[in-house]
Amino acid sequence: MNLKLIKGMRIVAATHNPGKVPEIAALLGEDYEILTAGQLNLPEPDETETTFVGNAMLKARHAAELSGEVSLADDSGMSVTALDGAPGIFSARWAGPGKDFAMAMKKVEERLEEIGAPNTAGDRSAWFTSALAVAWPDGPCVVVEGIVKGELVFPPRGDRGFGYDPIFIPEGGDRTFGEMDPAEKEAISHRTRAFAKLRAALID
Ligand code: IMP
Repeated sequence: MNLKLIKGMRIVAATHNPGKVPEIAALLGEDYEILTAGQLNLPEPDETETTFVGNAMLKARHAAELSGEVSLADDSGMSVTALDGAPGIFSARWAGPGKDFAMAMKKVEERLEEIGAPNTAGDRSAWFTSALAVAWPDGPCVVVEGIVKGELVFPPRGDRGFGYDPIFIPEGGDRTFGEMDPAEKEAISHRTRAFAKLRAALID
């Protein structure tokens, strides 16, 4: 069985967001025919697993079974050490249906305050995870994970990036992802690291 991504191959991205296609194409770094689950009208599965890896595999397998094509899925989020890894796989859900990340970041700050670790006191360490899974219609699935460690800072700083970027300072730095130029963030991000592992595993 040849578990490789061959140039020109058709890959279904298990997303309903067409904006992710150019990003995936660039991160894979080769020419593929990338379709989205949305274009194929595939239903989105419930993310019922308890880990990033589990949810990425679930989404990739679901898309591969329904489309009959090799499928790629990701699952990502931010985990806070002092909050036992929360919000973790619930990162998007903490922002609610309105995708209000100012509220989600406030919630992180409040939870840390509740346990006495909002700023200089206590453990403010956190990490971002990106899990990527590629599933074949006949069953095999390859999954990798990339992480970037850092520290949280409040109030949020910078208006670039998305999600939790304005409260996250990557290890060794002094600015948040929200204050960085996109290229600077991408050079060290969890997503870039996960795609590098995926390329190493699946592209000759
Ligand atoms: P997913 O789309 O279910 O994987 O949810 C990912 C969520 O994790 C996003 O909505 C963001 O809240 C958060 N997240 C993942 N990657 C990043 C990042 O690079 N910066 C900021 N937030 C992120």
